[in-house]
Amino acid sequence: MSAVAEQAARRRTFAIISHPDAGKTTLTEKLLLFGGAIQLAGTVKGRKASRHATSDWMALEQQRGISVTTSVMQFPYNGKIVNLLDTPGHEDFSEDTYRTLTAVDSALMVIDAAKGVEARTIKLMEVCRLRDTPIVTFVNKCDREGRPPLELLDEIEKVLGLHCAPITWPLGMGRAFKGVYHLLEDRFYLYSGDKHRVSEIETIAGLRAPGLTERFGEVYKVLLDEIELLQMAGTGFDLDAYRAARLTPVFFGSAINNFGVRELLDGFTEWAPPPQPRNALVPGGARAVQPTEAAFSGFVFKIQANMDPKHRDRVAFLRVCSGVYRKGMLLHSVRLNAPVRIANALTFMASERETIEEAYPGDIIGLHNHGTIAIGDSFSEGEALRFTGIPNFAPELFRRVVLKDPLKAKQLNKGLDQLSEEGATQVYRPLANNDIILGAVGVLQFDVVQYRLKDEYGVDAVFEPVPVHTARWVSCDDARKLKEFIDKNEQRLARDHYGDLVYLASSAVNLSMTQERHPDVRFLDTKEHG
Ligand code: G4P
Repeated sequence: MSAVAEQAARRRTFAIISHPDAGKTTLTEKLLLFGGAIQLAGTVKGRKASRHATSDWMALEQQRGISVTTSVMQFPYNGKIVNLLDTPGHEDFSEDTYRTLTAVDSALMVIDAAKGVEARTIKLMEVCRLRDTPIVTFVNKCDREGRPPLELLDEIEKVLGLHCAPITWPLGMGRAFKGVYHLLEDRFYLYSGDKHRVSEIETIAGLRAPGLTERFGEVYKVLLDEIELLQMAGTGFDLDAYRAARLTPVFFGSAINNFGVRELLDGFTEWAPPPQPRNALVPGGARAVQPTEAAFSGFVFKIQANMDPKHRDRVAFLRVCSGVYRKGMLLHSVRLNAPVRIANALTFMASERETIEEAYPGDIIGLHNHGTIAIGDSFSEGEALRFTGIPNFAPELFRRVVLKDPLKAKQLNKGLDQLSEEGATQVYRPLANNDIILGAVGVLQFDVVQYRLKDEYGVDAVFEPVPVHTARWVSCDDARKLKEFIDKNEQRLARDHYGDLVYLASSAVNLSMTQERHPDVRFLDTKEHG
């Protein structure tokens, strides 16, 4: 096996999807703790501390330095190299959150045992489904009164369309939580409620080991019934079904109490797929780029501006798809058709930001630049390959830009062009008037754009509400029908930064009626870059 193949096979690159407050931050911290990446729980928390405090951009700006470092966390575990990509949540939820999911090979879904499948999780699952990303599930907060586990599994199956294969099963819940039973190991892991305990957990082998009824009473009886039901329903784990994103292995635990996390991490690192081939357009066609290929390639899925005026650069996050990145190497920007020397790419160890020597498929590197890199850019050693599958997502929030000083229109346009190429916002120019409409997935994106327009381009702009509910990219193979559609709907049509046609629906009903009236027109909620 080549060195690249060997290194690629060790990588596990994933992200956590969850609804706010389900426990993503806590679980991240515990994964790092069990991965030996941090000595004491608490490192990730720092970032969260000011989370509720404000949605004030300046305060967020101060956290930027930290959030760059926690954007990607790498640690070794059981002979594997784990890359955990942070998905911005809470008020920093943005299109980056979606795009990050296009850069991973699998995902971990965290569900609050009391709340079940929540709205944000459903949304993030839709993004995972675009690439059939395999999902491992962690049902968190079992130390609190939760919903019956069978009901939770049922909800995952119904709402998310994923078969569930429980790997661990809770012995009681809430105050009666006594631990979990590991179905594959046929072993109980017992819960002590000790937050600081990471090892020396008491275990008992055997579902029907002697003394369990005496010790646990009713909750044990319930568990036996439930396990029997599960076995009858045939919910065994199947690696192929998991890898094909049809089935999710489910673990139960309590992240805050370090409970159930090690079992989760063990299962995850064993089953999660290594870097997968990625599709790319090449001159005259398309091909799958294999991670084991010797030549380096990768794509940019996120760009973060450095808010420090002394270092006004941006960090582009590139996922390595094939080959090896070596410090100082010349990378070929496929979009610019030009070489770009990257002097000091960053790698992201869980504890600190470091300059790296090498990176392999599945790894993420951070490229400093001054605006020469755009979202979706592909890099190679010279081959003209353009990775696909890093789309723009239809925004859910819209604002009209109003310029305070009309003489600044040129700077405004320049700023918006740049910011849309960095993925900070999407820009729409209506066909019927001279408005500029911004689209975003998270509300903070508007704050960022407003701040950066002023700070970097000297443009004072205010953003006003606008009666747009959602956007769809439209296309039609029949030119005559397309023209007819445009003529009829000019008032609701716009062009995006790349000149593509977008329908700005005033409501969900408006969208579905327009779709019905124009069955030959495609309405898409994602669009490939470029
Ligand atoms: P998020 O990143 O998904 O938004 O969730 P986060 O980890 O911040 O957790 C949300 C809240 O749930 C936190 O409480 C956290 O302590 C709590 N939590 C996480 N895991 C568990 C668990 O296994 N059991 C219980 N009982 N609680 C859990 P908070 O009050 O918002 O913050 P804090 O003051 O405790 O830090």
